[in-house]
Amino acid sequence: MLTIIGSGKVGGDAALFSALRKVDKDILLLDVVNGLPQGEAMDLNHMLSEQGVDVHIRGSNDYADMKGSDIVVVVAGSGRKPGMTRMDLLKINAGIVKDVVENIKKHASNAIIVPVTNPLDPMVHITYKTSGFEPSRIVGMGNMLDLSRFIQFIHESTGHSRDSIRALVIGEHGENMLPLPRFSTVSGIPLASILPKEKLDQIVKDTRGVAAKVIELKGATVHAPGNAISAIVEAIIKDRKKVIPVATPLTGQYGHSDVSIGVPAVIGRKGVEKIIELDLNSEEKEWFEKGVNSVKTALAGI
Ligand code: 2OP
Repeated sequence: MLTIIGSGKVGGDAALFSALRKVDKDILLLDVVNGLPQGEAMDLNHMLSEQGVDVHIRGSNDYADMKGSDIVVVVAGSGRKPGMTRMDLLKINAGIVKDVVENIKKHASNAIIVPVTNPLDPMVHITYKTSGFEPSRIVGMGNMLDLSRFIQFIHESTGHSRDSIRALVIGEHGENMLPLPRFSTVSGIPLASILPKEKLDQIVKDTRGVAAKVIELKGATVHAPGNAISAIVEAIIKDRKKVIPVATPLTGQYGHSDVSIGVPAVIGRKGVEKIIELDLNSEEKEWFEKGVNSVKTALAGI
């Protein structure tokens, strides 16, 4: 069973894409707002009926209903509004996430948790500390979304099929995120041999800033995060062993511990089955370290 806590637009889209990917027969939408998850579940089930997909979505306001969940996605909390950075949400969302995670501990103590609430990396670490779960069971969704955007910019700049593009974004899901052209290819052909350096620099900058642009234009980011959640959930439930960048607690990798941040990892039925350590150059390392410091400063402030 898959549980999604938070039934707003992103939670609803996460349920939609997860159902269409048939990740689980049973999806539970939870929310504190009366009626919202129930209405969302009805609307989604009506859609699935026409699709002929036998996935059943339920809505509930009762945390106890998540009993037996294999995966719990946490989208609950305030979203980023125009003009805000992700870090601006720190104080508001820390309390909400702690409370939600206490409930996961109580009702679904064997689940893998997929934190999504912003600021993502600090929330991942709070989830880890509050739950007491092994680091491998904390699989934060942030860089997977950044990666969707990086791939889109590569696609727009090269004209090549999105399907041929293999790329990577790691580090903070925030101002210091680290898109990695050096670890990106079009069907194995290094990106640096296809696009000039100035263009690559521009794409990296645009990837860092584009969520703010979407929020400015339509008020929120919805479909890309909803889909990125379902991609991670699918990799876990179907034991795909996919290499995906996720935010997870570090225990010595990249020279850090007691911090959570985005790193490439093998994702399967056990969650984060292995963290892959890249040989970063000095410029890449600098961005990664800036991200770690930003997350540590945030954590120290709460
Ligand atoms: C996003 O990147 C706001 O973190 C959210 O879409």
